[in-house]
Amino acid sequence: MTRKHTARDAAPHHLETFFLSPTRAAELVRRTGVVETMRGMAQALEEDFGRWQDFEKSARTANHSPHGVIELMPVSDDREFAFKYVNGHPINTRSGLPTVMAFGALASVDTGMPEFISELTLTTALRTAATSVMIARRLARPDSRTMALIGNGAQSEFQALAFHGLLGIRQLRLYDVDPAATRKLAANLAPHALEVVCCGSTDEALRGADIVTTVTADKAYATILGGHQVVPGMHVNAVGGDCPGKTELAAEVLRKGRVFVEYEPQTRIEGDLQQMPADFEVTEFWRVLRGEAPGRTSAAQITVFDSVGFALEDYSALRYMRALAGAAGVLERLELIPELADPKNLYALLQPPAAAESAVAARTAVAA
Ligand SMILES: NC(=O)c1ccc[n+]([C@@H]2O[C@H](COP(=O)([O-])OP(=O)(O)OC[C@H]3O[C@@H](n4cnc5c(N)ncnc54)[C@H](O)[C@@H]3O)[C@@H](O)[C@H]2O)c1
Repeated sequence: MTRKHTARDAAPHHLETFFLSPTRAAELVRRTGVVETMRGMAQALEEDFGRWQDFEKSARTANHSPHGVIELMPVSDDREFAFKYVNGHPINTRSGLPTVMAFGALASVDTGMPEFISELTLTTALRTAATSVMIARRLARPDSRTMALIGNGAQSEFQALAFHGLLGIRQLRLYDVDPAATRKLAANLAPHALEVVCCGSTDEALRGADIVTTVTADKAYATILGGHQVVPGMHVNAVGGDCPGKTELAAEVLRKGRVFVEYEPQTRIEGDLQQMPADFEVTEFWRVLRGEAPGRTSAAQITVFDSVGFALEDYSALRYMRALAGAAGVLERLELIPELADPKNLYALLQPPAAAESAVAARTAVAA
């Protein structure tokens, strides 16, 4: 049960949960502009990754099934707890459902009260692309102008527009095993000032690419990119290998480059890194952001971002979208936690309203 409320109402109230639906989130992003939304989100991500030590972190928990995975992703600082529920079922698109569906929440650390619940399907695509750009800014060659985009499904427009609008990519070379997906992506990108080249193979898409984004979905040890396909100076933004038994890069790609990750304990299990020995060297990106570790050190170096998606990104995205929605007055109120006159008398909820009131009166009289 939801009702619309205004920006003025968005002030915190201890028993109110605010809600952002996919329809309202989409309206907000249209109004703000998709690139501007990702610009703001990338800024929020940088601020939060910059205070990495403030967060209580853990690798997400995953429940696996033959065709997919359902994951829970918690994180908190001393004020807010965030979690995301997200699935990954590459088989879904055959039956008309998205591969990735998500929602999440922000709660008060002081009380545990859930204060905000949001769709995170659209928001995940935005935050994943914003994260890729935040990292590519430090790792890709500054003169990068051409990107190969392998995998042209739900995430792809967001990756394309983030790299175009926030990193200066001018030519995109698209490839997907499903030509209809590539046609869809090219049509969605048509209004933008981008040169789009539809390719018939990964090798064709890689021609002249400074950056390679792999964002495919296949619950398999796939090799989207082989060691022979990465060349000096390339930045690899590997987004789709994000689950045990689901990879995109040949081990040789990781060996040829320097590998950067979000949160090492999680990426060791889920990323392309799962193929490598436990002592294979990687750098957590926050260290680059804080100046504690180098990013790219030469124009010829190959850099690899082994992206899996970390809870902190959803914390940042949830807070960013809540602020945007609050300012625009599009948050709704959700009745989630019962209002109780006496917090110890949960049972009163089951009594007819008059009886519940007299129970409160009786307790008050005893207390007096
Ligand atoms: N790292 C992260 O933070 C993060 C966040 C969101 C999604 N993901 C992952 O990104 C991937 C893409 O998600 P989506 O929502 O776009 O899925 P999607 O199903 O909408 O699109 C995936 C596309 O990959 C294509 N594909 C599959 N195998 C291919 C191959 N060998 N070569 C070229 N194309 C191939 C499919 O035809 C499809 O069009 C998924 O694996 C998902 O789990 C990662």
